[in-house]
Amino acid sequence: MRVAVVEGDGIGHEVIPVAKRALEVLRPDMEFFPVEVGYGRWERTGQAITEDEIDALASADTILFGAVTTPPSPDYRSVIVRIRKELDLYANLRPVWGEGFDILVVRENTEGLYSGVEKIEQDSACTVRCITRKGSERIARFACGFARSRTGLTIGHKANVLKSDVFFRGICIAEANAAGVPWKECFIDALCLDILQHPERYDVIVTTNMFGDILSDVAAYLVGGLGLLPSGNLGERHALFEPVHGSAPDIAGKNLANPIAALRSASMLLMHRANDPESARLIETAINRVRARDVRTRDMGGMYGTVEFGNEIIRELESLIRR
Ligand code: NAI
Ligand code: MG
Repeated sequence: MRVAVVEGDGIGHEVIPVAKRALEVLRPDMEFFPVEVGYGRWERTGQAITEDEIDALASADTILFGAVTTPPSPDYRSVIVRIRKELDLYANLRPVWGEGFDILVVRENTEGLYSGVEKIEQDSACTVRCITRKGSERIARFACGFARSRTGLTIGHKANVLKSDVFFRGICIAEANAAGVPWKECFIDALCLDILQHPERYDVIVTTNMFGDILSDVAAYLVGGLGLLPSGNLGERHALFEPVHGSAPDIAGKNLANPIAALRSASMLLMHRANDPESARLIETAINRVRARDVRTRDMGGMYGTVEFGNEIIRELESLIRR
């Protein structure tokens, strides 16, 4: 299995090496090759990503991705948004679990407010929210696939205001009914609060692109921060696994980043792409054992650096596979 490894920018350079080492320990058969994209590359070469990198990523069996910096500028296009679109990674899976709750946010990943249909003019700016039947049907079907083996589906939307969500909601309900999946619905703003107050009431949540982006960062509060949450970007042919967090320029290069989100992204890669749930579980076991010994990074109230925490994880993994 050939794995493309994209560190990207900022703390991507710190957390991805830890996740890659974990994969190397668990799966010596995996072959890794680096792909450089992002803001750092743009500063160096004037291009953040080219067709060559898209081709390299498309040629891989799967992708381990860190994070990229995207400056808020009128002519810089987000690299990760472009990759998701070009590889048609339409489903963004963002699991959030803890004491008494186990939530899976399924976010549409290729359209909505991130469609890239927009312009800035002298006195106004406009971003078009494109929601298609094809895009809605396939994300709803994907979410129903997970919801079937769990307790139900929540549709997160804002159909009281947005006609595009009247459309999205209708398609989700039709798909859920066709699949025999029990569903409920919630306005996305209310959902952002309720998920914090009553996380145990939720199982699979399906929503549109930007709402899913925001909701999963909100949900990070339930588990102690962004340093802990992984995600998978899945399509028919390709798959990319990355932490939910970004490049964290405020802590980049300081050995402060928590590598758990990246490790769990590697775990999702093993689960969803390498068909290796056993190795996927070993990563989670190693994380739990290390945390039980009070080995923590700063964001979790500990004193360990990224490198030192990573070394502890690797030591646990090595002892787990020796047994
Ligand atoms: P961010 O997720 O990078 O950081 C938000 C806050 O969480 C910061 O205080 C940061 O220090 C903290 N944090 C994030 N990951 C952490 C970790 N592993 N350990 C400890 N603390 C952690 O989001 P922000 O600051 O809004 O964006 C920074 C840059 O990242 C921007 O350029 C943005 O466009 C980009 N970004 C990229 C993403 C991607 O590549 N998929 C996703 C989100 C943001
Ligand atoms: Mg985000």
